Amino acid sequence: MTYMYSTWGHLFQSPTKKMNTSGAGVAIALVIMLSFLPLNQSQANLVEQTCQKVQYHDLCVSALRSDGRSSSADVKGLAAIMLQLVKANGTDILAEVNTMLPNATDDVTKKCLGLCRDKFGEALNGLIPEAMAKLQSGSKHEAMLVTIEVGESAIECDSCFSNGRFGPSRGPPPFSDKNHVYFYLATVAKDIIGLS
Ligand SMILES: *[C@@H]1O[C@H](CO)[C@@H](O)[C@H](O)[C@H]1NC(C)=O
Ligand SMILES: *[C@@H]1O[C@H](CO)[C@@H](O)[C@H](O)[C@H]1NC(C)=O
Repeated sequence: MTYMYSTWGHLFQSPTKKMNTSGAGVAIALVIMLSFLPLNQSQANLVEQTCQKVQYHDLCVSALRSDGRSSSADVKGLAAIMLQLVKANGTDILAEVNTMLPNATDDVTKKCLGLCRDKFGEALNGLIPEAMAKLQSGSKHEAMLVTIEVGESAIECDSCFSNGRFGPSRGPPPFSDKNHVYFYLATVAKDIIGLS
């Protein structure tokens, strides 16, 4: 019996040991895959799933993927990231407005650039921080309403040049495309806040 046992024991020992060693390697690899792959996958899916439910789906995906923080954010975090992208884009537009202002020669352009400066200044310094605070405190509906106003800054700025408010139409401003992107980003932010 003892002989048999040790024989079997001997026979099984070394293959078992080998299996244990490679088994441990496989186990470690599995644990690594399980802890990282599904996380990244579910995060990629969260961006995709979230953007699936908003207007301007493609812009939503590309904007969120352009920001590394999206990979570890929940829906509320994605909404906050989108608000920050709106802020970054608005800051860029305001800088362009401020560069153009001293060079504006005609009255309509001057007044509209002034209006743009005021509207974007209000959005960047007042409305976006307010929307962010409401989002963080869970006042979702209010955050959405404020974010709609954030987006309207760009519409008011852009349309000023062509709506004759201050005189003959000047056609769209040179930063009109940026105004549109800003408005779309704000709309996406508003929609994601609604999902948060
Ligand atoms: C505007 O938003 C986009 C995302 O659509 C972002 O990639 C870009 O960096 C932002 N622009 C600026 C000037 O920050
Ligand atoms: C404004 O005018 C100055 C010259 O007076 C020029 O150097 C500058 O490039 C102009 N800026 C813009 C945005 O047109």
